[in-house]
Amino acid sequence: MKIFRCALIAVFLPLVVFAMNSTAEAQPPAGGASAQLAQTPPMGWNSWNKFACDVSEQLIREMTDAMVSSGLKAAGYQYVNIDDCWQVSRDTQGKIVADPTRFPSGIKALADYVHGKGLKLGVYTDAGRLTCQKRPGSLDHELQDAKTYASWGVDYVKVDWCHSEGLDPEVQYAKFRDALAQAGRPIVFSICNWGVKAPWRWGPKTGNLWRTTGDISDKYDSMSLIGFSQNGLEKFAGPGHWNDPDMLEVGNGGMNRDEYRTHMALWALLAAPLLAGNDLRSMTAETKEMLTNGEVLAVDQDAKGVQGHRIWEEGPLEIWTRSLADQSQAVGLFNRSEADLKMTLDFKAIGFSGLAKVRDLWEHKDIGIVQDAYTVEVPKHGVVLVKVSK
Ligand code: GAL
Repeated sequence: MKIFRCALIAVFLPLVVFAMNSTAEAQPPAGGASAQLAQTPPMGWNSWNKFACDVSEQLIREMTDAMVSSGLKAAGYQYVNIDDCWQVSRDTQGKIVADPTRFPSGIKALADYVHGKGLKLGVYTDAGRLTCQKRPGSLDHELQDAKTYASWGVDYVKVDWCHSEGLDPEVQYAKFRDALAQAGRPIVFSICNWGVKAPWRWGPKTGNLWRTTGDISDKYDSMSLIGFSQNGLEKFAGPGHWNDPDMLEVGNGGMNRDEYRTHMALWALLAAPLLAGNDLRSMTAETKEMLTNGEVLAVDQDAKGVQGHRIWEEGPLEIWTRSLADQSQAVGLFNRSEADLKMTLDFKAIGFSGLAKVRDLWEHKDIGIVQDAYTVEVPKHGVVLVKVSK
């Protein structure tokens, strides 16, 4: 059922976007403590993609340590986020209770630990009665939960949409925004309602990021269906409010190097939040390089905050571009076909003419000064990600 829902959202999203009033203007978040947060897309790690419900304070501490020792922290990753299953009940006052077996020291002690390493802690809840894994949701406890999180020192909250029958996401998430604004601590607000009721329309005045589709899985088909369907949403994103095509699967083993490069490059062009979803304690050198490539991360984190879009497509070949603060363009030449193919970027298509400098960002290599167009072979399911400048 869930798979069907995800596939449905991913398939119909482009149509929905196309049908929308294209003049709709994105608004910055309407005040509240979170308005100044996430000036660039949040970067961090989240437990769900790899560990699902198998979370504990031990795991979160080890992941925090690994974020530092692996170099992810130095590369800009900041949030350590516990997803579903940390909570088990409410006490007699209605206060949310963490699983005493898996989190015996409590969430506050964990937040202190994460802060002690110079990182930030995120938690997860649900706007409905129950979370997706049937733990207590925040419905009718919005303010109480926001205050609890603030008192624990939580820095980020992801709010899901399971068991929300009869509720309007625009109304419920606004309640949560207002609760966070009263909680007295800046907390990044991540809306996770899988694109239901076009969150890009009301998300900018509600949260710092909003999921645009159903769940990603660690397969090229899932990742590419989601990533390449984001075209048209770019007008709704900007500093403090971002489209979220879901968390990263890089390093989880279901895709090859070229496919994971497509995943990272596309997410960087989309100004997407970058929440690693793999086991940081046991990364291969290839995964580490993929997650920490500074030139690719700089595209994602570019200060101009303009989300990229598709400028050309022919069958399975697509070219996406993103304008950067230094007047250059990041360009991804993507090959979705089953064979390596040559692709050509015509500089006119990105507003350049004559000579331009081309640099390959994955390879950290200057290609040189090129006349009019750049032709390159792109591996199947892969990408060549370049920066083009005058
Ligand atoms: C889904 C959500 C996932 C994960 C999961 C937890 O609804 O999209 O990212 O949080 O619930 O149960």
